[in-house]
Amino acid sequence: MREVAIIGVGMTRFGELWDQGIRDMFAEAALKAMADANVDKIDSLYVGCMSSGLYTYQEHIASVMTDYMGQRGIPAARVESACASGSVAIRSAFMEVASGMSDIVMAGGVEKMWDIEDGTFVLATASDQEYEAYTGVTFPGLYAMMARAYMHQYGLTREELAQVPIKNHKHSVHNPNAQYPFEMDMKTVLTSSMVADPLRLMDCSPITDGAAAVILCPMEMAKQFVKNPVKIKAIGAATGPIALHDHKDLTRLDAVRLAGERAYKMAGLKPSDISFAEVHDCFSIAEIIVAEELGFFDYGKGGKAIANGEATYGGKIVINSSGGLKAKGHPVGATGVAQVIEAVEQLRGTAGKRQVENAKYGMTQNMGGSGGSSVVHILEAQ
Ligand code: COA
Repeated sequence: MREVAIIGVGMTRFGELWDQGIRDMFAEAALKAMADANVDKIDSLYVGCMSSGLYTYQEHIASVMTDYMGQRGIPAARVESACASGSVAIRSAFMEVASGMSDIVMAGGVEKMWDIEDGTFVLATASDQEYEAYTGVTFPGLYAMMARAYMHQYGLTREELAQVPIKNHKHSVHNPNAQYPFEMDMKTVLTSSMVADPLRLMDCSPITDGAAAVILCPMEMAKQFVKNPVKIKAIGAATGPIALHDHKDLTRLDAVRLAGERAYKMAGLKPSDISFAEVHDCFSIAEIIVAEELGFFDYGKGGKAIANGEATYGGKIVINSSGGLKAKGHPVGATGVAQVIEAVEQLRGTAGKRQVENAKYGMTQNMGGSGGSSVVHILEAQ
Protein backbone atom coordinates (compact mmCIF):
# COMPACT_ATOMS: atom_id res chain seq x y z
CA MET A 1 0.00 0.00 0.00
CA ARG A 2 1.37 3.47 -0.89
CA GLU A 3 1.56 6.22 1.72
CA VAL A 4 -0.96 9.00 1.02
CA ALA A 5 -0.71 12.78 1.49
CA ILE A 6 -3.16 15.65 1.38
CA ILE A 7 -1.76 18.37 -0.87
CA GLY A 8 -4.68 20.78 -1.24
CA VAL A 9 -7.74 21.95 0.67
CA GLY A 10 -10.62 24.32 -0.08
CA MET A 11 -14.02 25.12 1.33
CA THR A 12 -16.86 27.60 1.13
CA ARG A 13 -17.91 29.68 4.08
CA PHE A 14 -20.50 27.72 6.08
CA GLY A 15 -23.94 29.27 6.66
CA GLU A 16 -27.05 30.30 4.75
CA LEU A 17 -25.71 30.57 1.20
CA TRP A 18 -28.81 31.84 -0.60
CA ASP A 19 -26.90 33.03 -3.68
CA GLN A 20 -25.21 29.68 -4.41
CA GLY A 21 -26.72 26.42 -5.66
CA ILE A 22 -25.29 23.01 -4.76
CA ARG A 23 -23.03 22.93 -7.83
CA ASP A 24 -21.74 26.49 -7.27
CA MET A 25 -20.78 25.63 -3.69
CA PHE A 26 -19.03 22.42 -4.68
CA ALA A 27 -17.18 24.04 -7.58
CA GLU A 28 -15.97 26.85 -5.29
CA ALA A 29 -14.52 24.38 -2.78
CA ALA A 30 -13.10 22.10 -5.48
CA LEU A 31 -11.36 24.88 -7.44
CA LYS A 32 -9.89 26.34 -4.23
CA ALA A 33 -8.50 22.89 -3.35
CA MET A 34 -6.99 22.46 -6.83
CA ALA A 35 -5.39 25.91 -6.67
CA ASP A 36 -4.02 25.09 -3.21
CA ALA A 37 -2.55 21.82 -4.54
CA ASN A 38 -1.17 23.47 -7.69
CA VAL A 39 -2.95 21.00 -9.97
CA ASP A 40 -5.27 21.74 -12.89
CA LYS A 41 -6.45 18.18 -13.44
CA ILE A 42 -7.58 15.37 -11.17
CA ASP A 43 -7.74 11.64 -11.98
CA SER A 44 -10.86 10.80 -10.00
CA LEU A 45 -13.50 12.29 -7.67
CA TYR A 46 -15.58 11.12 -4.70
CA VAL A 47 -18.41 13.39 -3.48
CA GLY A 48 -19.83 12.83 -0.01
CA CYS A 49 -23.44 13.93 0.22
CA MET A 50 -26.21 12.75 2.47
CA SER A 51 -29.33 13.74 0.62
CA SER A 52 -29.08 15.99 -2.43
CA GLY A 53 -32.20 14.31 -3.81
CA LEU A 54 -34.45 15.32 -0.92
CA TYR A 55 -32.77 18.68 -0.26
CA THR A 56 -32.40 19.92 -3.87
CA TYR A 57 -34.10 17.21 -6.03
CA GLN A 58 -30.73 16.63 -7.75
CA GLU A 59 -29.32 13.10 -7.73
CA HIS A 60 -26.39 11.87 -9.85
CA ILE A 61 -24.32 14.69 -8.42
CA ALA A 62 -20.85 13.28 -9.08
CA SER A 63 -21.44 13.79 -12.81
CA VAL A 64 -22.94 17.24 -12.23
CA MET A 65 -19.86 18.27 -10.25
CA THR A 66 -17.19 16.93 -12.64
CA ASP A 67 -18.89 18.75 -15.49
CA TYR A 68 -19.40 22.01 -13.63
CA MET A 69 -15.84 22.13 -12.28
CA GLY A 70 -14.28 21.50 -15.69
CA GLN A 71 -13.21 17.88 -15.20
CA ARG A 72 -15.63 16.16 -17.60
CA GLY A 73 -14.66 12.58 -18.41
CA ILE A 74 -12.99 11.49 -15.19
CA PRO A 75 -14.44 8.65 -13.07
CA ALA A 76 -16.55 10.03 -10.24
CA ALA A 77 -19.00 8.72 -7.67
CA ARG A 78 -21.13 9.98 -4.83
CA VAL A 79 -20.77 8.19 -1.48
CA GLU A 80 -23.28 8.27 1.35
CA SER A 81 -23.16 7.43 5.03
CA ALA A 82 -25.50 10.10 6.43
CA CYS A 83 -23.52 12.80 8.33
CA ALA A 84 -20.32 10.73 7.87
CA SER A 85 -20.53 10.88 4.05
CA GLY A 86 -17.61 13.32 3.68
CA SER A 87 -15.24 11.11 5.67
CA VAL A 88 -16.28 8.06 3.68
CA ALA A 89 -15.41 10.04 0.52
CA ILE A 90 -11.91 10.64 1.91
CA ARG A 91 -11.57 6.96 2.84
CA SER A 92 -12.57 5.97 -0.72
CA ALA A 93 -10.07 8.42 -2.22
CA PHE A 94 -7.37 7.17 0.17
CA MET A 95 -7.93 3.57 -0.97
CA GLU A 96 -7.76 4.58 -4.64
CA VAL A 97 -4.43 6.37 -4.16
CA ALA A 98 -2.95 3.82 -1.74
CA SER A 99 -3.76 0.95 -4.11
CA GLY A 100 -1.88 2.61 -6.96
CA MET A 101 -5.00 2.89 -9.14
CA SER A 102 -4.87 6.70 -9.39
CA ASP A 103 -2.46 9.47 -8.38
CA ILE A 104 -4.44 12.71 -7.95
CA VAL A 105 -7.83 12.12 -6.37
CA MET A 106 -10.28 14.65 -4.97
CA ALA A 107 -12.57 13.88 -2.03
CA GLY A 108 -15.24 16.44 -1.40
CA GLY A 109 -18.47 16.88 0.45
CA VAL A 110 -21.49 19.11 -0.05
CA GLU A 111 -24.94 19.74 1.39
CA LYS A 112 -27.50 22.41 0.54
CA MET A 113 -29.85 22.31 3.54
CA TRP A 114 -31.59 25.69 3.61
CA ASP A 115 -33.59 25.45 0.37
CA ILE A 116 -36.43 23.33 1.75
CA GLU A 117 -38.72 23.88 4.71
CA ASP A 118 -38.82 20.43 6.29
CA GLY A 119 -35.12 19.74 6.77
CA THR A 120 -35.80 17.86 9.99
CA PHE A 121 -37.68 15.24 7.99
CA VAL A 122 -34.68 14.80 5.66
CA LEU A 123 -32.24 14.41 8.56
CA ALA A 124 -34.52 11.87 10.21
CA THR A 125 -34.19 9.58 7.18
CA ALA A 126 -30.75 8.71 8.63
CA SER A 127 -32.40 7.30 11.77
CA ASP A 128 -34.35 4.05 11.94
CA GLN A 129 -37.47 4.74 9.84
CA GLU A 130 -39.60 1.97 11.28
CA TYR A 131 -38.83 2.43 14.98
CA GLU A 132 -37.74 6.06 15.29
CA ALA A 133 -38.70 8.51 12.51
CA TYR A 134 -42.13 6.93 12.02
CA THR A 135 -43.00 7.52 15.67
CA GLY A 136 -41.95 11.18 15.39
CA VAL A 137 -38.59 11.20 17.14
CA THR A 138 -35.95 13.48 15.58
CA PHE A 139 -32.18 13.65 16.04
CA PRO A 140 -32.43 16.29 18.79
CA GLY A 141 -34.85 13.87 20.51
CA LEU A 142 -32.50 10.89 20.18
CA TYR A 143 -29.50 12.81 21.51
CA ALA A 144 -31.68 14.24 24.30
CA MET A 145 -32.26 10.67 25.50
CA MET A 146 -28.50 10.07 25.45
CA ALA A 147 -27.93 13.28 27.39
CA ARG A 148 -30.53 12.35 30.03
CA ALA A 149 -29.01 8.88 30.45
CA TYR A 150 -25.48 10.30 30.78
CA MET A 151 -26.53 12.98 33.28
CA HIS A 152 -28.34 10.35 35.35
CA GLN A 153 -25.53 7.78 35.20
CA TYR A 154 -22.58 10.09 35.81
CA GLY A 155 -24.06 13.08 37.68
CA LEU A 156 -23.30 15.61 34.92
CA THR A 157 -25.08 18.90 35.59
CA ARG A 158 -26.91 21.01 33.03
CA GLU A 159 -24.32 23.77 33.55
CA GLU A 160 -21.44 21.35 32.88
CA LEU A 161 -23.11 20.18 29.66
CA ALA A 162 -23.39 23.82 28.54
CA GLN A 163 -19.62 24.19 28.70
CA VAL A 164 -19.26 22.19 25.46
CA PRO A 165 -20.99 24.75 23.16
CA ILE A 166 -19.54 27.66 25.18
CA LYS A 167 -16.03 26.31 24.46
CA ASN A 168 -16.72 25.60 20.79
CA HIS A 169 -18.24 29.02 20.17
CA LYS A 170 -15.16 30.57 21.82
CA HIS A 171 -12.94 28.68 19.38
CA SER A 172 -15.11 29.65 16.38
CA VAL A 173 -14.48 33.37 16.77
CA HIS A 174 -11.15 32.93 14.95
CA ASN A 175 -12.57 30.82 12.11
CA PRO A 176 -13.46 32.96 9.07
CA ASN A 177 -15.58 30.13 7.60
CA ALA A 178 -17.76 29.58 10.68
CA GLN A 179 -21.54 30.00 10.51
CA TYR A 180 -21.95 31.38 14.04
CA PRO A 181 -18.58 32.90 15.06
CA PHE A 182 -19.64 34.48 18.33
CA GLU A 183 -18.92 33.84 21.99
CA MET A 184 -21.79 33.02 24.28
CA ASP A 185 -22.19 32.70 28.02
CA MET A 186 -23.93 30.27 30.33
CA LYS A 187 -27.10 32.37 30.50
CA THR A 188 -27.43 32.37 26.69
CA VAL A 189 -27.26 28.57 26.58
CA LEU A 190 -29.58 27.97 29.52
CA THR A 191 -32.24 30.44 28.35
CA SER A 192 -32.20 29.49 24.65
CA SER A 193 -35.34 27.74 23.32
CA MET A 194 -35.92 24.20 24.51
CA VAL A 195 -35.61 21.82 21.55
CA ALA A 196 -35.76 18.37 23.22
CA ASP A 197 -35.33 18.34 26.99
CA PRO A 198 -32.57 18.75 28.18
CA LEU A 199 -31.14 20.00 24.86
CA ARG A 200 -31.72 23.65 24.01
CA LEU A 201 -31.13 25.57 20.79
CA MET A 202 -27.55 26.35 21.84
CA ASP A 203 -26.80 22.64 22.35
CA CYS A 204 -27.67 21.87 18.72
CA SER A 205 -25.62 22.05 15.55
CA PRO A 206 -27.46 24.24 13.03
CA ILE A 207 -28.86 23.82 9.54
CA THR A 208 -26.03 24.75 7.15
CA ASP A 209 -25.17 25.12 3.47
CA GLY A 210 -21.57 24.41 2.55
CA ALA A 211 -18.97 22.43 0.63
CA ALA A 212 -15.40 21.30 1.25
CA ALA A 213 -12.77 19.45 -0.79
CA VAL A 214 -9.30 17.95 -0.33
CA ILE A 215 -6.80 16.56 -2.84
CA LEU A 216 -4.87 13.37 -2.17
CA CYS A 217 -1.79 12.00 -3.90
CA PRO A 218 0.97 9.47 -3.14
CA MET A 219 3.33 10.76 -0.45
CA GLU A 220 6.30 10.15 -2.77
CA MET A 221 4.85 12.64 -5.30
CA ALA A 222 3.53 15.23 -2.83
CA LYS A 223 6.55 17.54 -2.78
CA GLN A 224 6.39 17.92 -6.57
CA PHE A 225 3.24 19.97 -5.93
CA VAL A 226 3.52 21.61 -2.52
CA LYS A 227 6.04 22.30 0.25
CA ASN A 228 3.63 21.40 3.06
CA PRO A 229 1.90 18.03 2.48
CA VAL A 230 0.15 16.39 5.41
CA LYS A 231 0.20 12.61 5.69
CA ILE A 232 -2.93 10.52 6.23
CA LYS A 233 -1.40 8.24 8.83
CA ALA A 234 -4.46 6.07 9.47
CA ILE A 235 -8.16 5.66 8.84
CA GLY A 236 -10.57 3.61 10.93
CA ALA A 237 -14.21 3.07 10.01
CA ALA A 238 -17.01 1.16 11.69
CA THR A 239 -20.75 0.69 11.81
CA GLY A 240 -23.03 0.45 14.82
CA PRO A 241 -26.72 -0.11 15.52
CA ILE A 242 -28.85 2.43 13.66
CA ALA A 243 -31.62 2.49 16.29
CA LEU A 244 -30.89 3.96 19.69
CA HIS A 245 -32.82 1.18 21.46
CA ASP A 246 -30.27 -1.31 20.10
CA HIS A 247 -27.38 0.43 21.90
CA LYS A 248 -26.32 -1.72 24.89
CA ASP A 249 -25.93 1.50 26.88
CA LEU A 250 -27.38 4.89 25.84
CA THR A 251 -24.15 6.59 26.93
CA ARG A 252 -21.95 4.62 24.53
CA LEU A 253 -21.24 4.84 20.79
CA ASP A 254 -19.71 1.52 19.74
CA ALA A 255 -19.02 2.58 16.14
CA VAL A 256 -16.86 5.46 17.40
CA ARG A 257 -14.88 3.22 19.75
CA LEU A 258 -14.29 0.62 17.00
CA ALA A 259 -13.32 3.24 14.39
CA GLY A 260 -10.94 4.84 16.91
CA GLU A 261 -9.35 1.51 17.87
CA ARG A 262 -8.79 0.67 14.20
CA ALA A 263 -7.23 4.06 13.50
CA TYR A 264 -4.91 3.89 16.54
CA LYS A 265 -3.84 0.37 15.53
CA MET A 266 -3.13 1.36 11.92
CA ALA A 267 -1.15 4.42 13.10
CA GLY A 268 0.68 2.63 15.94
CA LEU A 269 -0.39 5.50 18.23
CA LYS A 270 -2.34 5.99 21.45
CA PRO A 271 -4.72 8.74 22.61
CA SER A 272 -1.98 10.65 24.45
CA ASP A 273 -0.07 11.08 21.14
CA ILE A 274 -2.91 13.18 19.68
CA SER A 275 -2.58 16.97 20.17
CA PHE A 276 -5.99 18.02 18.85
CA ALA A 277 -9.18 16.45 17.57
CA GLU A 278 -12.09 17.64 15.49
CA VAL A 279 -15.03 15.57 16.72
CA HIS A 280 -18.71 15.25 15.82
CA ASP A 281 -20.43 17.57 18.32
CA CYS A 282 -23.81 17.51 16.55
CA PHE A 283 -25.28 18.01 20.04
CA SER A 284 -23.38 18.93 23.24
CA ILE A 285 -23.64 15.42 24.66
CA ALA A 286 -22.12 13.90 21.51
CA GLU A 287 -18.73 15.59 22.05
CA ILE A 288 -18.55 14.19 25.59
CA ILE A 289 -19.39 10.60 24.66
CA VAL A 290 -17.15 10.66 21.57
CA ALA A 291 -14.18 12.04 23.56
CA GLU A 292 -14.56 9.13 25.97
CA GLU A 293 -14.89 6.52 23.19
CA LEU A 294 -11.70 7.84 21.57
CA GLY A 295 -9.84 7.35 24.86
CA PHE A 296 -9.20 11.02 25.68
CA PHE A 297 -11.11 10.71 28.97
CA ASP A 298 -12.35 7.76 31.06
CA TYR A 299 -16.00 6.75 30.79
CA GLY A 300 -18.14 9.09 32.82
CA LYS A 301 -15.31 11.62 33.27
CA GLY A 302 -15.41 13.42 29.90
CA GLY A 303 -18.21 15.83 30.68
CA LYS A 304 -16.61 17.17 33.83
CA ALA A 305 -13.14 17.24 32.21
CA ILE A 306 -14.40 19.35 29.30
CA ALA A 307 -16.25 21.63 31.73
CA ASN A 308 -12.95 22.01 33.64
CA GLY A 309 -11.06 23.23 30.56
CA GLU A 310 -9.32 19.97 29.61
CA ALA A 311 -10.46 20.18 25.96
CA THR A 312 -9.27 23.67 25.10
CA TYR A 313 -5.90 25.46 24.73
CA GLY A 314 -3.70 24.69 27.75
CA GLY A 315 -5.72 21.55 28.59
CA LYS A 316 -5.11 17.87 27.93
CA ILE A 317 -6.17 18.04 24.27
CA VAL A 318 -7.75 20.75 22.11
CA ILE A 319 -11.14 19.54 20.87
CA ASN A 320 -12.90 21.35 18.01
CA SER A 321 -10.49 24.23 17.46
CA SER A 322 -12.60 25.14 14.38
CA GLY A 323 -15.72 25.77 16.48
CA GLY A 324 -17.00 22.26 15.78
CA LEU A 325 -20.30 21.43 14.18
CA LYS A 326 -22.06 23.62 16.76
CA ALA A 327 -20.48 26.94 15.77
CA LYS A 328 -18.70 26.31 12.47
CA GLY A 329 -21.86 24.65 11.11
CA HIS A 330 -22.92 21.20 9.95
CA PRO A 331 -23.67 20.85 6.21
CA VAL A 332 -23.94 17.12 6.79
CA GLY A 333 -22.26 15.69 3.67
CA ALA A 334 -19.41 18.24 3.86
CA THR A 335 -18.73 18.04 7.59
CA GLY A 336 -16.16 15.21 7.59
CA VAL A 337 -14.13 16.91 4.84
CA ALA A 338 -14.19 20.26 6.67
CA GLN A 339 -12.95 18.52 9.82
CA VAL A 340 -9.96 17.21 7.84
CA ILE A 341 -9.33 20.70 6.43
CA GLU A 342 -9.08 22.06 9.99
CA ALA A 343 -6.62 19.27 10.83
CA VAL A 344 -4.54 20.06 7.72
CA GLU A 345 -4.40 23.77 8.62
CA GLN A 346 -3.33 22.92 12.16
CA LEU A 347 -0.60 20.53 10.96
CA ARG A 348 0.64 22.99 8.32
CA GLY A 349 0.85 25.62 11.07
CA THR A 350 -1.50 27.97 9.21
CA ALA A 351 -4.45 28.01 11.65
CA GLY A 352 -3.74 31.57 12.81
CA LYS A 353 -5.25 32.42 16.19
CA ARG A 354 -6.69 28.87 16.40
CA GLN A 355 -3.19 27.34 16.13
CA VAL A 356 -2.41 24.42 18.46
CA GLU A 357 1.32 24.69 19.19
CA ASN A 358 3.72 21.85 18.32
CA ALA A 359 1.05 19.52 16.98
CA LYS A 360 2.44 16.42 15.23
CA TYR A 361 -0.68 14.23 15.15
CA GLY A 362 -4.28 15.38 14.78
CA MET A 363 -7.48 13.35 14.68
CA THR A 364 -10.90 13.79 13.09
CA GLN A 365 -14.01 11.83 14.04
CA ASN A 366 -17.18 11.98 11.97
CA MET A 367 -20.43 10.14 12.66
CA GLY A 368 -23.60 9.10 10.87
CA GLY A 369 -26.89 9.44 12.74
CA SER A 370 -26.90 8.43 16.38
CA GLY A 371 -23.88 6.16 15.91
CA GLY A 372 -24.90 4.04 12.92
CA SER A 373 -21.51 4.74 11.34
CA SER A 374 -18.28 6.51 12.19
CA VAL A 375 -14.95 7.29 10.54
CA VAL A 376 -11.74 8.38 12.31
CA HIS A 377 -8.72 9.86 10.52
CA ILE A 378 -5.27 10.41 12.03
CA LEU A 379 -3.12 12.96 10.20
CA GLU A 380 0.60 13.63 10.63
CA ALA A 381 2.59 16.81 10.07
CA GLN A 382 5.64 16.42 7.76
N1 COA B 1 -26.70 27.96 17.15
C1 COA B 1 -26.81 29.29 17.27
N2 COA B 1 -27.82 29.99 16.76
C2 COA B 1 -28.75 29.32 16.08
C3 COA B 1 -28.69 27.94 15.92
C4 COA B 1 -27.63 27.26 16.48
N3 COA B 1 -27.53 25.93 16.39
N4 COA B 1 -29.75 27.53 15.20
C5 COA B 1 -30.46 28.62 14.93
N5 COA B 1 -29.85 29.70 15.45
C6 COA B 1 -30.37 31.07 15.43
C7 COA B 1 -30.78 31.50 14.04
O1 COA B 1 -29.77 32.24 13.40
C8 COA B 1 -31.97 32.35 14.33
O2 COA B 1 -31.55 33.63 14.75
P1 COA B 1 -32.34 34.94 14.29
O3 COA B 1 -33.72 34.77 14.85
O4 COA B 1 -31.55 36.04 14.92
O5 COA B 1 -32.31 34.93 12.80
C9 COA B 1 -32.63 31.70 15.54
O6 COA B 1 -31.56 31.02 16.20
C10 COA B 1 -33.74 30.75 15.22
O7 COA B 1 -33.30 29.92 14.17
P2 COA B 1 -34.24 28.92 13.42
O8 COA B 1 -33.53 28.45 12.18
O9 COA B 1 -35.62 29.48 13.27
O10 COA B 1 -34.30 27.72 14.44
P3 COA B 1 -35.17 26.44 14.31
O11 COA B 1 -35.96 26.36 15.56
O12 COA B 1 -35.89 26.36 13.01
O13 COA B 1 -34.08 25.27 14.27
C11 COA B 1 -32.89 23.57 15.42
C12 COA B 1 -33.23 25.06 15.35
C13 COA B 1 -31.94 23.34 16.56
C14 COA B 1 -34.16 22.72 15.63
C15 COA B 1 -32.24 23.15 14.05
O14 COA B 1 -31.11 23.95 13.85
C16 COA B 1 -31.86 21.69 14.04
O15 COA B 1 -32.68 20.83 13.74
N6 COA B 1 -30.59 21.37 14.36
C17 COA B 1 -30.14 19.98 14.42
C18 COA B 1 -29.64 19.56 13.08
C19 COA B 1 -29.35 18.07 13.06
O16 COA B 1 -30.09 17.26 13.61
N7 COA B 1 -28.28 17.67 12.38
C20 COA B 1 -27.89 16.28 12.27
C21 COA B 1 -27.27 15.85 13.54
S1 COA B 1 -26.98 14.12 13.64
